[in-house]
Amino acid sequence: MTHKIYISQPIPENALKILRDGGLEVETNTDNRVLEKSELMQAIQGKDGLLSLLTDTVDAEVLSANPNLKIVSNYAVGYNNIDVQAATERNILVTNTPGVLTETTADLAFALLMASARKLLEADKFTRAGKFHKWEPLGFLGQDIHGATLGIVGAGKIGTATARKGHKGFGMRILYFDPNENDYLNNELQATKVSLEELLQESDFVSLHVPLIEKTHHLIGAQELSLMKPTAYLINTARGPVVDEATLAEALQKGTIAGAGLDVYENEPDVHPDLLNLDNVILAPHIASASIHTRQEMARIAAENIVAFFEGEDIPSPVNPEILSHS
Ligand code: GLV
Ligand code: GLV
Repeated sequence: MTHKIYISQPIPENALKILRDGGLEVETNTDNRVLEKSELMQAIQGKDGLLSLLTDTVDAEVLSANPNLKIVSNYAVGYNNIDVQAATERNILVTNTPGVLTETTADLAFALLMASARKLLEADKFTRAGKFHKWEPLGFLGQDIHGATLGIVGAGKIGTATARKGHKGFGMRILYFDPNENDYLNNELQATKVSLEELLQESDFVSLHVPLIEKTHHLIGAQELSLMKPTAYLINTARGPVVDEATLAEALQKGTIAGAGLDVYENEPDVHPDLLNLDNVILAPHIASASIHTRQEMARIAAENIVAFFEGEDIPSPVNPEILSHS
């Protein structure tokens, strides 16, 4: 019997080829919009696998809609959109796409950091508005990036890559907050593992790289922002709910911190209205992994996870591998 896969929105074509070459039948939602939950539940009827996006809420209700569903392959490294425990209870494998987007995401963290520090977007608007009349000794004064202190919150793959770019490219001093010691950061980048409090107090740039779990929800709130230097910047390429967004808008308004560079939001695709009116924040629409090459690589891995599963081969990146031992 041919296994059937549902893809919840168009993704790079190479995934389709891998799935079809793997003998699978593929159906894609060709509407360029996120499906309502009821539509997703309907769409997975008769399917053996779902290739989901981070914008799909795959909770217990969705997973229960089709008792024959065997795999949910998320087209993302983060999988907070999936109730993994509910999947495990139903013997459904969940997979993600780690590794391939590490450097690309860290590149964007750095782009936000640099553009924030040097007021690049404000300067661009100024030039386009025809306001560039003379060179100004006191115009658009920002913060130095080279030699500054970069605080990495969450020293996984992406946090480590961001730290490496900062240290090797710009001679930045690296502080990090993580439950674990990171030998590469300690030994190769002379980084120091510190408390979150110390990191916030000492860093010129704070870059977030934690997954969204219960413990990291609103990890950065009013208290944490108040510890940061008034000259410091907050960069978030992780997940929006890690930051209390209303509080951040207030801190940016009051000048508690100098600015922020955001790629993710608490209630995507909504952005807190106060942020939209502020000049000291850069707002990107969740594009950290959006390079042509990386999105193709994510498509490849998402498809290979599915093919490997149905062929009984080793799964490249299982999130709940425990179900494989008793299936
Ligand atoms: C993007 O946010 C991802 O988790 O891959
Ligand atoms: C994801 O790949 C991470 O560990 O940061």
